[in-house]
Amino acid sequence: MILSPSLLSADCGDFAGALRDLEAAGVQWVHWDVMDGRFVPNITFGQHVIRGLRKRSSLFFDVHLMIEEPERYLVDFREAGADMLVVHVEATRHLQRVLAEIRRLGMKAGAALNPATPLDVLDYVLDDLDMVLIMSVNPGFGGQSFLPCTPGKVRTLRKKLAGRNCHVEVDGGVCPENTAELVHAGADVLVSGSSFFGHLPLAERLAEFEAAGRA
Ligand code: DX5
Ligand code: ZN
Repeated sequence: MILSPSLLSADCGDFAGALRDLEAAGVQWVHWDVMDGRFVPNITFGQHVIRGLRKRSSLFFDVHLMIEEPERYLVDFREAGADMLVVHVEATRHLQRVLAEIRRLGMKAGAALNPATPLDVLDYVLDDLDMVLIMSVNPGFGGQSFLPCTPGKVRTLRKKLAGRNCHVEVDGGVCPENTAELVHAGADVLVSGSSFFGHLPLAERLAEFEAAGRA
């Protein structure tokens, strides 16, 4: 199980320090929650902030675009140093073209689904995906409550992927207490913001998540 901590729950006045702390704790991925105030009712940060931190971190940048028409910014986020670029299926009219373009630009391609979005939206792009992000909260904020329908959706998704080499990421309200159920259902990447950064030291919190993922 890979933990991808969401920087939205870190000290937003010191991302460089937060990234240093994550690397020191042994984290491999970091989750950037990009929000435009249109697709979701909140605004966070964009490609300029990510670019500024790219040269200060060797972590895998898992970039979650909660923005309308993400196809407008694929090159921007490539240039900013995104490693994985995740677009919401609800935010673009041409999902297959966007996923193919993300890969053409040299990034890993991910598709995110809001809680109410059915999995069959992925049926004709399964071979274009390096990751599927399943939202376990309605997007826009950290610290929300985990939606209990999520493990079942993850289980069904893993069957749909039928052994493909594709990550399944769960995002929102994830904590050590629901980690085992999510991993058993087929998730292999978990995003955590408030439940991770809210518990120091980070290395110990990471170990708690990893132990829960092996349970
Ligand atoms: C919500 C974001 C999540 C959120 C996770 O729109 O996509 O990544 O920041 O934070 P927690 O773990 O606190 O729900
Ligand atoms: Zn996210």
